[in-house]
Amino acid sequence: MCGIVGYIGTQQAYPILIKGLHRLEYRGYDSAGVSLINKSGALTVYKAKGKVDDLEAVCADKDISGTIGIAHTRWATHGEPNEANAHPHYSQSHNLALVHNGIIENYKPLRSMMERSGISFCSDTDTEVLVQLVEYMQNSHKCDLFTAVQLALKNVVGAYAIAIIEKSHPDRIVCARKGSPLIIGVGKDKNDRAEFFIGSDATPIVEYTDQVVYLGDEEIASLDRTGKLQITNLNNVKQTPQLVKLQMSLDQLEKGGYPHFMLKEIWEQPDALRICIKGRVSNLNSKVTLSGIIDHKDKFLNCRRIIICACGTSWHASLIGKYFIEEACHLPVEVEYASEFRYRNPVINADDVVIAVSQSGETADTLAAIQLAKEHHAFVYGICNVIGSSISRATDSGTYLHVGPEIGVASTKAFTGQVITLCLLGLAIAQEKKTLNDKMLNMLVNELQQIPDKMQWTLEHNKDISQFAQMFTYCKNFIYLGRGYNYPVALEGALKLKEISYIHAEGYPAAEMKHGPIALIDEEMPVVVIAPKRGMYDKIVSNIQEIKSRHGKIISVVTEGDVTVKEMSDFSFVIPDTRDCYVPLLAVIPLQLLSYYVAVAKGRNVDQPRNLAKSVTVE
Ligand code: M6R
Repeated sequence: MCGIVGYIGTQQAYPILIKGLHRLEYRGYDSAGVSLINKSGALTVYKAKGKVDDLEAVCADKDISGTIGIAHTRWATHGEPNEANAHPHYSQSHNLALVHNGIIENYKPLRSMMERSGISFCSDTDTEVLVQLVEYMQNSHKCDLFTAVQLALKNVVGAYAIAIIEKSHPDRIVCARKGSPLIIGVGKDKNDRAEFFIGSDATPIVEYTDQVVYLGDEEIASLDRTGKLQITNLNNVKQTPQLVKLQMSLDQLEKGGYPHFMLKEIWEQPDALRICIKGRVSNLNSKVTLSGIIDHKDKFLNCRRIIICACGTSWHASLIGKYFIEEACHLPVEVEYASEFRYRNPVINADDVVIAVSQSGETADTLAAIQLAKEHHAFVYGICNVIGSSISRATDSGTYLHVGPEIGVASTKAFTGQVITLCLLGLAIAQEKKTLNDKMLNMLVNELQQIPDKMQWTLEHNKDISQFAQMFTYCKNFIYLGRGYNYPVALEGALKLKEISYIHAEGYPAAEMKHGPIALIDEEMPVVVIAPKRGMYDKIVSNIQEIKSRHGKIISVVTEGDVTVKEMSDFSFVIPDTRDCYVPLLAVIPLQLLSYYVAVAKGRNVDQPRNLAKSVTVE
């Protein structure tokens, strides 16, 4: 969480920094700030509680000149979201300004130590401790900024991505990372003069250059105005910068005419999934090939168990993956909340395959779960969307979703991308293990290829959810029910509604209702039931009866042509028929649209819901 952006070069830094902050705002948006060094050498810091727009208002009448600067958009951890706690933070002498993403766990003893030596603090943050510590090291060791940062970071426990500028040396930015992401963009201005960009991800950089360096853990970089890029580790051992070409276009970061990123991303799903499938399924022989497993087939064929670690929506997608892989490959699969797994001494064997599923590839708990799996010598496979992300680099092998950048905080196309990627993985293993006969395998592969068209159909046939959603803005609670493959869809539908409309919602396996939650049903309770004409249809019809007899309002997701459930429902959303295992890919679409339109009708900030951030880089 939190977004960092930085610039040094020949252009005015402020417009680049502000644009970058807007792009990174999905990472946190409770306060923002910018620091610049102007021509006459003054180091300024401007901050605002609230969003980047509020910061711009603060800066409107200020001196915002300067060709070097750093900026930050915050998701509060230590200290409430207010101006004093917003970044950048000054050092005591105001010679340094620093921005930080992460958590410094030992900030209290460090702060006490410095307070005892006469340093005073202006905020409640762990970040201010860092900048003070760097200056403290400069003063006590009489060293330059780069060495002081190395020394300071050696004393720090926790995660950080930092960028720091120095009034007395306005020609360089020093940055470093451990556990939190940081990317350096290497560019040239129109007169071919060097310039550097810094971003928590590539979105603030892609407009200016496609050449980037992913800073490694415990690496420190000095970005010099002359174009010199120096990287060392904390022990001052020189590292060679590896330039990588960015695979992202500017168009992908715009709303493309949609009012919100979330709606754009919902509608992008058919095309996104076509790209995700493309090249992985042969039209000649229905063979599924995932490049990430080619060299590691034996790991999947010989493993005794798969453990999938994930959080939030990625956890829901993983649960569907579990059902699919167990059915197709006859392999036991466990799905773990990464945050629980990492702290509970789980049994991990060297012949287990651990799969980390994460859209951002930066989720702190999922990264820690990977670390634990590696300590137990398990083979670790990553399924991420963000190319070059920390998880994609920390795993032994993996597969990208290729669904394009997801900007809306509520995950939509990454969910369906994860589900389809896990299905592709299951099919690839099944074809090697021969756990499915050819007829079944071909049929599943062919049906999978139909899913993008069926998604398009689903989107077109559920457009009027926008009017229907208005009726539910008064509701305080929702229940979502599904069985089998659709139980995780119920969880996902409930999460989507909660996070963007702030209406309380719970997802349950439909048959669990009678074990307690049925007590909640009355005429005010909308119950969303995923009831495709497949699998356990008759069972779910009985579950609907139980709710109706208690006067609950039924909103159903039904298969095209269904009559029985439709007649029992107050409202229905229709999806085309598909295999049980692929129903989640279609059934989730009306639920995404429902949560979107309810949130819009309630006037919520759909793309940036309160208290949330897109990448949860703190535990
Ligand atoms: O980037 P990740 O997939 O690891 O993120 C996991 C969760 O934080 C994420 O899915 C979160 O639940 C979303 N806001 C859901 O829409």
